[in-house]
Amino acid sequence: MHNDVEKILFTEEQIAARVRALGAELSRDYAGKNPLMLCILKGAFVFFADLTRAMDMPVAMDFMQVSSYGAGAVSSGNIRILKDTAVPVAGRDVIIVEDIIDSGNSLYRLKGLLKERGASSVKICAFLDKASRRTAPVAADYVGYVIEDAFVVGYGLDYAEKYRNFPYIGILKREIYEK
Ligand code: IMP
Ligand code: MG
Repeated sequence: MHNDVEKILFTEEQIAARVRALGAELSRDYAGKNPLMLCILKGAFVFFADLTRAMDMPVAMDFMQVSSYGAGAVSSGNIRILKDTAVPVAGRDVIIVEDIIDSGNSLYRLKGLLKERGASSVKICAFLDKASRRTAPVAADYVGYVIEDAFVVGYGLDYAEKYRNFPYIGILKREIYEK
């Protein structure tokens, strides 16, 4: 399995240090509040578990799974909710925790939805940001690393449901997804 990886971008140790720093930053920015940490399934689950444990403050946690409608499908300005939150987001300071932002389409729509539902504030914390690929007008408020345009796996990120359990972030060999 590890042979499918062309290059390790971030080691387990590098990731741990970066996530600790992000957790400290969030703890400072949200001191005195009780933010709702919203994990976007499935990719963010590993980052979410580490990030929330790096926050030294009371936090609430919830989970959502969404998928964007493909081009041509009905309601293209919308998202399809596969799993919704268990608690209402109205009046909450929501921190969306995502594995990676690529085009930004899904996060742009999700952020709009949470605001429509009356969240007091909505911020985005993404572990990885492929900034050069952005097409939607959305930015992450907290970012682990900005990366080049390459297909990466590990630390929750998959290709065809594989590699999510790798402890590092690696660039997948082209021959794996182009065969
Ligand atoms: P966006 O709506 O285009 O920003 O899509 C972001 C989603 O695409 C992420 O939550 C991932 O599920 C997936 N994705 C984008 N780039 C990668 C990658 O390099 N590896 C694995 N998944 C990716
Ligand atoms: Mg995802």
